[in-house]
Amino acid sequence: MEKIREHSFRLSDKEFKFICQFVYETAGIVLNDSKREMVYRRLTRIIRERSLSSFHAYYQLLKLNPEQEKNYFINAITTNLTSFFREEHHFDFLLKTELPYLIKKNKNDKRIRIWSSASSTGEEPYSIAITLCEGLKNYLSSWDIKVLATDIDSDVLSKGKAGIYDKRRIEEIPERYKKIYFSKGTGLNESKVKVLSNLQKLLTFKQLNLLHEWPMKGPFDIIFCRNVIIYFDKKTQQELFERYYEILAPGGLLILGHSENLGSYQKYFENVGRTVFRKPILSAAMR
Ligand SMILES: C[S@@+](CC[C@H](N)C(=O)[O-])C[C@H]1O[C@@H](n2cnc3c(N)ncnc32)[C@H](O)[C@@H]1O
Repeated sequence: MEKIREHSFRLSDKEFKFICQFVYETAGIVLNDSKREMVYRRLTRIIRERSLSSFHAYYQLLKLNPEQEKNYFINAITTNLTSFFREEHHFDFLLKTELPYLIKKNKNDKRIRIWSSASSTGEEPYSIAITLCEGLKNYLSSWDIKVLATDIDSDVLSKGKAGIYDKRRIEEIPERYKKIYFSKGTGLNESKVKVLSNLQKLLTFKQLNLLHEWPMKGPFDIIFCRNVIIYFDKKTQQELFERYYEILAPGGLLILGHSENLGSYQKYFENVGRTVFRKPILSAAMR
């Protein structure tokens, strides 16, 4: 039944091509024919919400009002899959290797900056914040420690800021973390948990398109860029690697997702863990 209803709108080749181009120019995300069904499903939702009669009507709206429609459209098209402590080995590395290293390396300015650069609904930056609370207990009040969480999608950022999750989202994390870092909802919110304010205090959520100017100066000690560059083409990936390299502190870490790699940019970094790359202390200019 659902399938028949879903295909009640017609998406022509011309409209699909326009949508792919629009997504590429706006967010750098490469869509091809294999994503047609996904695009169809996600945009059908917008068409229904807007009470439009066809893809053509939506196509015309996008053409006429690209600026006005962009945010809504990009929010619908992005893939926001994430989880707490996804790729757990990265958080182990952070706790056991990187935080002890940073305590020594940054002992003079007592400052640590971490950037979760495609933060989605916040599970990644909150997992970073939990790891900081675990590994830097004696430093949190006297050091200047901050995590910046950015994403292009304004809906996921609002969820991240709120810090409220279905309790099933934290089923897999250690019991101790559940007790220390989350409060349980009551009454109508019984199925929810909320991250505690000591975690939220460490985080700032901001909307940022990775393709645009980055307003922050850095330098960052660690950048998480996980499970986002897979949506970009080689050219965009390489431009981003250069910019990440520039904004990282000497000795800083760039962390990618499990199926991602630096390609030819690997030579500028040291591979210090599974998809964990360190900018050398004595770093070479890339260009
Ligand atoms: C699959 S999620 C990854 C979330 C998290 N990093 C993780 O690994 O669990 C990819 C995120 O990248 C964001 N994204 C896609 N294109 C982007 C762009 N051009 N600038 C910033 N964020 C983007 C999406 O909105 C989405 O939330």
